[in-house]
Amino acid sequence: MGDRKNKGLPLNLLQFFILYSIFHLLCISPESVTGQENDGVTIITVNDFQALQAFKRELIDLRGTLKSWNGTRNGACSGSWAGIRCMKGQVVAIQLPFKVLGGRLSDKIGQFKQLRKLSLHDNLIGGTIPSSIGSLPNLRGLYLFSNRFSGTIPASIGNSPQIQAIDLSNNQLNGLIPASLVNSPRIHRVNLSLNSFSGSIPRSFALSSSLIFLALQNNNLSGLIPSSWGTLNLRSLTLDHNSFYGSLPHSLSKLSHLEELSLSYNKINGSLPKEIAGLKNLSSLNLKKNHLTGDIPSSIGNLSRISLLDLSENNFTGEIPASLENLSNLTSFNVSYNSFSGQVPARLSKKFNSSSFVGNIQLCGFSPSTPCISAASPPAESPSLSPLSSDDDHEPKHHHRRLSTKDIILIIVGVLLLILFILCCVLLFCLIRKRTGTKARNGKSAGVEKGFAAAGGAAGADTGPNGGKLVLFDGPFVFTADDLLCATAEIMGKSPYGTVYKATLEDGNQVAVKRLREKLAKTPKEFEIEVAALGRIRHPNLLPLRAYYLGPKGEKLLVFDYMSKGSLSSFLHARGPETTIDWPTRMKIAIGVTRGVNYIHNQENLVHGNLTSGDVYLDEQNNPRISDYGIHRLMTDSANTNVIGTAGSAGYRAPELPKTKKTTTKTDIYSLGVIILELLTGKSPNEAVDGSDLPQWVASTVKEEWTNEVFDLELMRDVSTTGDEMLNTLKLALHLVDPLPEARPDVQQVLQQLEEINPKLIAETPEESAEKTHH
Ligand SMILES: *[C@@H]1O[C@H](CO)[C@@H](O)[C@H](O)[C@H]1NC(C)=O
Ligand SMILES: *[C@@H]1O[C@H](CO)[C@@H](O)[C@H](O)[C@H]1NC(C)=O
Ligand SMILES: *[C@@H]1O[C@H](CO)[C@@H](O)[C@H](O)[C@H]1NC(C)=O
Ligand SMILES: *[C@@H]1O[C@H](CO)[C@@H](O)[C@H](O)[C@H]1NC(C)=O
Ligand SMILES: *[C@@H]1O[C@H](CO)[C@@H](O)[C@H](O)[C@H]1NC(C)=O
Ligand SMILES: *[C@@H]1O[C@H](CO)[C@@H](O)[C@H](O)[C@H]1NC(C)=O
Ligand SMILES: *[C@@H]1O[C@H](CO)[C@@H](O)[C@H](O)[C@H]1NC(C)=O
Ligand SMILES: *[C@@H]1O[C@H](CO)[C@@H](O)[C@H](O)[C@H]1NC(C)=O
Ligand SMILES: *[C@@H]1O[C@H](CO)[C@@H](O)[C@H](O)[C@H]1NC(C)=O
Ligand SMILES: *[C@@H]1O[C@H](CO)[C@@H](O)[C@H](O)[C@H]1NC(C)=O
Ligand SMILES: *[C@@H]1O[C@H](CO)[C@@H](O)[C@H](O)[C@H]1NC(C)=O
Repeated sequence: MGDRKNKGLPLNLLQFFILYSIFHLLCISPESVTGQENDGVTIITVNDFQALQAFKRELIDLRGTLKSWNGTRNGACSGSWAGIRCMKGQVVAIQLPFKVLGGRLSDKIGQFKQLRKLSLHDNLIGGTIPSSIGSLPNLRGLYLFSNRFSGTIPASIGNSPQIQAIDLSNNQLNGLIPASLVNSPRIHRVNLSLNSFSGSIPRSFALSSSLIFLALQNNNLSGLIPSSWGTLNLRSLTLDHNSFYGSLPHSLSKLSHLEELSLSYNKINGSLPKEIAGLKNLSSLNLKKNHLTGDIPSSIGNLSRISLLDLSENNFTGEIPASLENLSNLTSFNVSYNSFSGQVPARLSKKFNSSSFVGNIQLCGFSPSTPCISAASPPAESPSLSPLSSDDDHEPKHHHRRLSTKDIILIIVGVLLLILFILCCVLLFCLIRKRTGTKARNGKSAGVEKGFAAAGGAAGADTGPNGGKLVLFDGPFVFTADDLLCATAEIMGKSPYGTVYKATLEDGNQVAVKRLREKLAKTPKEFEIEVAALGRIRHPNLLPLRAYYLGPKGEKLLVFDYMSKGSLSSFLHARGPETTIDWPTRMKIAIGVTRGVNYIHNQENLVHGNLTSGDVYLDEQNNPRISDYGIHRLMTDSANTNVIGTAGSAGYRAPELPKTKKTTTKTDIYSLGVIILELLTGKSPNEAVDGSDLPQWVASTVKEEWTNEVFDLELMRDVSTTGDEMLNTLKLALHLVDPLPEARPDVQQVLQQLEEINPKLIAETPEESAEKTHH
């Protein structure tokens, strides 16, 4: 048996999969199982014959494989019974894989005193595994994988003194793993993967000196990884997709033959011990998706045979060790979604594309969109700031362009205002005439207010002047439909979904009213369900929806708080040349917008879909408030598809959108990145610079090491104190506008980074300053 074992064992993992099937055959030596061996004694013993009949009885043989098991004792060992091999009138092997057999495994199986191999894998056999298997004194290989066995493993199974391989993988087994499974001094392969075993790994498994393959992946196992490994022969240890916790024991490094170690998808914490370098033969190390922290020890470069290294989705920090560069056999490498920082070693970034590195906000140099900006550059250049500021061509040009933009905007706004004013006059005139003609004057507004109180209910009852319906959400103002419709209004702006007016109510309060384009909106019934949900959303960085009005002809008005400072877009781009916006203000706006997006994504599970600096409004303290979140929910799907295609928000649109036509949290992150670039550069994304859009222009300028050119000139005055913050914010923003959606961080990460860049702004709780005005 001994030399057969050596022959059957694969030499390395690559060969393993090929040899795996060969091993199955070699488990029983050819001379002992071939038909020719049934010399002399060809008549099966009564005992084995009865056991075979019992075995057949309990199986369901849909394909008729066992039809050949006919006739008398004479035939059973003649070689004509499918899957049966005998020696001296006793069954030594039952091999019926892939035969669509159902039913159960008879416990008469324990009667085959010479059975060496039981291979029934890839069938449909269910029920429990009979404990009588443990009384088979000569069993060497038990292959029951890929069936429907359920229940627990009988502890007796490991009792067969000769057993070498137990493969029960891919069944529905549960309960604890019996420690006695590895009792046999010859056991070298145990595969219990793809079941529902629970509990922890028995200590005996770590102490067995014969075990070579241990596969427990895809179960419900938990507990610590055993800390005292004595099994010096283990070559493959796969424990992935369980719930193991605790840290990686240093003693793992004693497994000097180990070639494959997979612990991915567990809850392992602590750090990667530097002793890992002792695993000289390791070719595959997979630690994906755990809770590991700390630095990667540079000794990892000693794993000269490594070909797969996956450390992704952990919490590793520090730099990626340069020692990895020289691992010539490394073909699969992933460190994405950690907290690595610094520069990716050049040869690694050449060999692997960005999908191996994404999700490390502070990591740079692995793709064109993540250039490493030398942190020293802005302060270093502050002495040489003089050439920049004395560069007189630059500044006037800048101002000139800004002024002309402003002029254009002013002219457009002026024209629009004039048109609107005329329209308003006509509308108002009509309304007043109608009202005075049809309605009794007294008690009118009181009556309507009662109607609002009952608003959720029957429409029409709580009528406005023309049978419209006003529903108020919680907020500081109480007004009636009449108040709203009679308010004086001036146009503030247009968006793809409709026009926004500033309305001054009779009592002097001001609100912003958005009139939705009727053709684009959903039916009133659907509209009301969606708008009620939007009306409940409250966050200091989101512009609250205070009311909606549904007119008798289907007109839809949304009422928001009025923000006197206007939009971020006009704040940045339509100001006079003498108005400066300092860095702390810009940072505060960036963080506020990010908080708003964070709330939309993570509390409301919404996508904004159309985020631009025109949708961000500022209150008196320059706290930003995002509007239009979730507004696409009020619109028909076709309207939304069209809006995605419009040019309105061109500069903010993620590059994949024209193709996918589907807004996601990642397209929002892109838009957020553009807004942050807008704050940094003072440039509007709507005006292309040198034929490229804002993110492209910034990325290429940074790459040419003209980082200072990127920042808004007026920010350069304080560069000695704020340079680092600006630089780090710029790096972050470039991650947000990565052309690859999956490379963009989540908003939570963005927020965390921004707060780290400027810790002062965490202390200041915007909740208080913003929301107290309403309560
Ligand atoms: C038994 O089965 C074999 C193969 O299916 C067949 O050739 C043979 O005729 C059968 N014998 C009897 C006695 O049914
Ligand atoms: C264990 O079983 C699984 C599923 O049947 C299989 O994919 C894997 O290759 C096996 N591993 C070993 C070491 O036998
Ligand atoms: C996994 O084990 C836990 C206890 O350790 C148990 O609560 C849970 O139901 C198990 N899940 C499955 C799918 O068996
Ligand atoms: C490592 O693998 C090689 C080749 O596969 C083998 O010759 C050597 O004995 C192994 N070393 C250890 C410690 O297992
Ligand atoms: C790892 O997690 C365990 C709980 O599962 C905890 O007791 C231990 O302190 C953690 N260790 C580290 C290094 O975080
Ligand atoms: C990573 O660490 C940070 C703090 O150090 C913690 O907030 C975060 O939850 C950790 N992430 C994971 C996946 O463990
Ligand atoms: C790594 O290998 C170098 C030389 O090859 C050796 O000096 C160093 O001690 C090794 N480190 C570890 C942790 O094995
Ligand atoms: C790299 O892999 C090849 C092929 O598997 C092997 O021959 C070679 O020895 C390996 N190199 C190292 C340094 O392990
Ligand atoms: C990698 O190998 C080259 C020579 O092949 C050597 O010059 C360089 O120092 C090595 N790098 C590391 C990090 O060991
Ligand atoms: C990156 O490389 C992996 C394989 O290493 C490949 O599957 C993937 O498509 C590549 N991604 C890009 C964006 O090139
Ligand atoms: C690296 O891991 C991440 C996260 O699981 C995955 O999205 C990415 O496709 C992986 N990249 C490669 C090259 O395997």
